[in-house]
Amino acid sequence: MRLRAVIAAALLISAAPPVLSQPQPIAQRIELCYVCHGRNGHSQTPLTPSLGGQPSFYVVAQLFLFRDARRGNAPQGMTDAAKGLTNDDLRAFGEYIARLPPPPAGSGVPDAARAARGAALAEQHHCGACHNPDYSGRENMARLANQREDYLLKSLRDYKSGVRLPYSRGMEEVLVSLKDEELADLAHYLAYWPARRP
Ligand code: HEC
Ligand code: HEC
Repeated sequence: MRLRAVIAAALLISAAPPVLSQPQPIAQRIELCYVCHGRNGHSQTPLTPSLGGQPSFYVVAQLFLFRDARRGNAPQGMTDAAKGLTNDDLRAFGEYIARLPPPPAGSGVPDAARAARGAALAEQHHCGACHNPDYSGRENMARLANQREDYLLKSLRDYKSGVRLPYSRGMEEVLVSLKDEELADLAHYLAYWPARRP
């Protein structure tokens, strides 16, 4: 299946009628996910994203890719966690995660110069046009605000190197012209949202 078909598949999964009998409530099943992704999806684990507040459609699409082992460079632990999930599971996790509180702003002290460079780059490349002006994300476009800095940088590098194939052309086009130090400034800026709001 082509990557673009992920959108169509995720749409179908999202639109299916809910299943009334879940073997175990999702609130219990997500405990396994919290081991890596942190309580309430606020990650304290290096290179592991916070999940709280991600749009449910985005979550469904990414779990779909993990389940098929088609999200490049994903650690085995995540691929294993997604293995065997049904379409109903994907939708249930998506809906649950979207209702979790978004992660708080980074607790460290942002570097003002880097954050300002990141803000200028985000403006120039219209990141907010897709990810929302407050980077809260929508539909299949990830929430970026206050995501872990190390994970943001990893995902940008993964797209840039072609290891993670974006299913939207938008990300591919945006990343072509960006240098590695610019990716780092963008990640720094977004990780401290809204502390460094321009
Ligand atoms: C062993 C640790 C581990 C476990 C357990 C785990 N994950 Fe993950 N997860 C990760 C890592 C690491 C990534 C980042 C993968 C990458 O770099 O591409 C990730 C990525 C994700 C993403 C993509 C987020 C984004 O911003 O793109 C979603 C959604 C997700 N996990 C959901 C889940 C759910 C739901 C569960 C439980 C069923 C789960 N994870 C269990 C480690 C884990
Ligand atoms: C044309 C729309 C569009 C634009 C413009 C855009 N993005 Fe994205 N972005 C997406 C979509 C859609 C995804 C998720 C799906 C995918 O993998 O293609 C995504 C995913 C991401 C991710 C991965 C998030 C995660 O949790 O794994 C990051 C980081 C990101 N974008 C940052 C940026 C930055 C920084 C900019 C500006 C320099 C930007 N995006 C511009 C559409 C866009």
